[in-house]
Amino acid sequence: MKSLQISSFEEYKDVYAYSVQNPEGFWGDVAEHFTWKKKWDQVLDWNFTEPQVAWFKGAQLNITENCLDRHLVDRGDDVAILWESNDPDEAFRKITYRELHREVCKFAHVLTQQGAKKGDRICLYMPMVPELTVAVLACARIGAIHSVVFGGFSAQSIADRIQDAACNLVVTADGTMRGNKEIFLKNIMDDALVHCPTVERVIVLERSNSPISMIKGRDVFYGEEMARMEGQGLTDFPAVAMEAEDPLFILYTSGSTGKPKGVVHTCAGYMVFAAYTFQNIFQYKRGQIYFCTADIGWITGHSYIVYGPLASGATNVMFEGIPTFPDAGRFWEIVDKFKVNILYTAPTAIRSLMAYGLDYVKNKDLSSLQVLGSVGEPINEEAWNWFNTHIGKGNCPIVDTWWQTETGGILISPLANITPTKPCFATLPLPGVQPMLVDEKGEEIVGNGVSGNLCIKFPWPGIIRTTYGDHERCRTTYFATYENLYFTSDGCLRDEDGYYRITGRVDDVMNISGHRIGTAEVENAINMHTGVIESAVVAFPHEIKGQGIYAYVILSDHSHQPDQIRKDISATVTRIIGAIARPDKIQFVTGLPKTRSGKIMRRILRKIAEGELSNLGDTSTLLDPNVVDQIKEERL
Ligand code: WT7
Repeated sequence: MKSLQISSFEEYKDVYAYSVQNPEGFWGDVAEHFTWKKKWDQVLDWNFTEPQVAWFKGAQLNITENCLDRHLVDRGDDVAILWESNDPDEAFRKITYRELHREVCKFAHVLTQQGAKKGDRICLYMPMVPELTVAVLACARIGAIHSVVFGGFSAQSIADRIQDAACNLVVTADGTMRGNKEIFLKNIMDDALVHCPTVERVIVLERSNSPISMIKGRDVFYGEEMARMEGQGLTDFPAVAMEAEDPLFILYTSGSTGKPKGVVHTCAGYMVFAAYTFQNIFQYKRGQIYFCTADIGWITGHSYIVYGPLASGATNVMFEGIPTFPDAGRFWEIVDKFKVNILYTAPTAIRSLMAYGLDYVKNKDLSSLQVLGSVGEPINEEAWNWFNTHIGKGNCPIVDTWWQTETGGILISPLANITPTKPCFATLPLPGVQPMLVDEKGEEIVGNGVSGNLCIKFPWPGIIRTTYGDHERCRTTYFATYENLYFTSDGCLRDEDGYYRITGRVDDVMNISGHRIGTAEVENAINMHTGVIESAVVAFPHEIKGQGIYAYVILSDHSHQPDQIRKDISATVTRIIGAIARPDKIQFVTGLPKTRSGKIMRRILRKIAEGELSNLGDTSTLLDPNVVDQIKEERL
């Protein structure tokens, strides 16, 4: 069979042209590279009106057979996971594909014995340890739908997500260290579960060994259960046959409203797309060491730590800690220690490490590096240059990968060593991906040297299928703004060479350190503070985070110290959402710029937060134009 990997720019252009002219022929050929229990009857059935998208209709498979079983034949002893603890003195772990297969099978038995079955929703709230990968794959193996919740989210956020999906089982850990701070995962989960009557069982991984309370009849220990399976010889588990379009997972992400939406991805298309993009963008070759610094709690971890690399038989470095512990050289220490060849990270991490200076890079051997990757937000020129010069030593292509939780995998990116790169450009679409720029009215903007709103006009296998429990929300959010197009909510320019550069969100979604947070969510959280009457939140440019959160707050009571109230409001946001949503700046105001119909004019607030005070545009439609002057004067 022809290799899945494109090997020259000429070939890319040919393959791309073919993928547009005959998408079904193209993806049908790609899909031949995977293990199926039953082949498809039809490659693609779709419309963007409902929307309804089905890839590989009629096929049956289990993604874990593609990530595990099929490698046992000739690469069972290859390393699947090289795990590095948060604690630099704790021994690293090495897990082969054979071992991972065994662990996943055992845990599939544990889940089954705890009552889980195909179609159930299982919430995973865990540290970055191999057992998280095991839990993810064990869910997939039994056909349960995993909903991973990032370990930085609050009890309230967990409860919202568990309730929305009506999960009946939870897998968590006692606790985990992040830097020198312990996160008490089980305690936070216990707080969440008070409001989650659907959860019948909680499996608790022993990681930090800090004291926790175990609820009788509900909670069991991961280690004890796994030992029991081992004792009973339950080390193999036949993978459940899944229909191509059965849901594989739900992952919650922020939108323009206050309520996070559960993005649903399905088995076959997601698998094919994650693996195809992984192999082509990073040009992964067997034996190479690949390190993605994301957390499995985000889509990057799902697609490019778990499914893409494992479906490709890759060796993955998995890191539990943070880039700055015990010092800002930790990433480079890990690259040196494991001789990492491919490093996939985020602009916010690069900027924060850049700020610590070159001392932490100087004495590290980074000569193993061959390919660098960036994801999560537009990478600014300074960070790009630093990454290129000081980490890649000018020898490593940087793949600036643009995509979204909803796209399942990377849509626009260079292919390493194949696509000529340009700083800050995501460059060209992957085969099978058909971008289109449109103006406000939805008219296509043709030609080069133009900019507009980025849409995709044809389905790719990793496209979002629905938002869990609310298909109408999926339709209105992504498919209703422009007829027959998937709308990304990103602004984008296409330069003279036809290269794409993503300029950022055009909706009320902020991008804080590469993570999406809706303004409405933060406002709702701030408004829960007793002293707050109303608030409005916008993003402003932030040196490290890319964007920071600027909150304008109207107080009911001015008798307290402003700094104390700021702290209290921040604590409220942390409790309601999580520390990532904490405002960087809180300005107290007496009014907000509203139109006569009561709509807050964020455009004005955004400009003030950005420091653009002179050119605020038309303010004549404001109910009270005077509030703007006051806000300007008291700007932080
Ligand atoms: C939003 C999606 C998909 C992985 C991580 C974020 C922004 C993502 C890039 C990039 C410019 C980027 C977009 C997008 N974004 N990658 N390479 N260049 N912007 O996933 O939380 O779903 O956020 O992140 O604005 O819409 P997400």
